[in-house]
Amino acid sequence: MSEWIDGQGRRIDYLRLSVTDRCDFRCVYCMAEQMRFLPRQQVLSLEEIERVARLFVAGGVGKLRLTGGEPLVRPGIVDLCARLAALPGLRELCMTSNGAQLARHARGLHAAGLARLNISLDSLDPARFRAITRNGELRQVLAGIDAAQAAGFARIRLNCVVMKGRNDDEVPALLDYAIEHGLDIAFIEEMPLGQVGRARGESVCSSDAVRAIIAARHELLDSTEHSGGPARYLRLARHPGTRVGFISPHTHNFCASCNRLRLSADGRLLLCLGHEHALDLRALLRRHPLHDQPLLDAIHGALRDKPARHVFSPHGEVQVLRFMNMSGG
Ligand code: 5AD
Ligand code: SF4
Repeated sequence: MSEWIDGQGRRIDYLRLSVTDRCDFRCVYCMAEQMRFLPRQQVLSLEEIERVARLFVAGGVGKLRLTGGEPLVRPGIVDLCARLAALPGLRELCMTSNGAQLARHARGLHAAGLARLNISLDSLDPARFRAITRNGELRQVLAGIDAAQAAGFARIRLNCVVMKGRNDDEVPALLDYAIEHGLDIAFIEEMPLGQVGRARGESVCSSDAVRAIIAARHELLDSTEHSGGPARYLRLARHPGTRVGFISPHTHNFCASCNRLRLSADGRLLLCLGHEHALDLRALLRRHPLHDQPLLDAIHGALRDKPARHVFSPHGEVQVLRFMNMSGG
């Protein structure tokens, strides 16, 4: 089967699958306080998700990441992991989780063949953590991180969305936590996706500002490492066990090397996080339950139109109406 190449000549080898739009948190940068979630019949079944993954892996996608919402609130998620991990040709099955239910699921996920975990952590202060997630329990997430390490997950990465005046003063503490636990950490610039009920222009903290905070305390070594995503990595001279990543959708555009597509929880193939462009795969999956060719043709057609780059307004105006929980970061 032909490989997945887009209209700009970029090879697509990474697919992110949002397995649910639901979540047990309501992070301020991701959701509005009152969210309406998709009716069940609009959400892809686990079988439909597996079918899409199989098509993409057969065409050379080597990396899959399960996201949400929160993937661990989807019933059957561990079984889905086992089936996806067994797809011939897959190099790496990954998941991004908020960690709240990891204490319960870490061993099962590891046994199912999940290779890597990214866990969101924006604060180490319980009250602040609750304010950012609107109802998250810090203790539960820290227990989830411990459980994941005990289950044998290696190279766990913390994801931290840095917001001015909210948690930028915690960059050193979060980094120390990562160092102490032998974790990687990525600092992320907030993207203006969905109307979350507050202005965000003022709150974006640039990766360069975060880097300066770290450079004041640590000797940094440049690194050319990649994990197959948009993160740029640094190493710390005195702490070789921790890689520090920066995901900078505002200040370091990474679109030229974009290698990814996203499948939303309701089965739209999203060509770019910063655009509304999408292919309604759910309709095709349900119209052609037995024949893959119409799906393959439609995907190749859509790929020709994958946008060359995203443009997020520096003032944080919302140009993309989709909330982050539909597309999973
Ligand atoms: N901007 C940047 N990152 C976001 N995430 C969720 N919403 C946003 C946003 N608006 C992050 C989460 C999680 C990952 C899936 O995406 O913190 O780590
Ligand atoms: Fe849930 Fe992640 Fe969105 Fe927070 S960022 S509300 S944990 S999906």
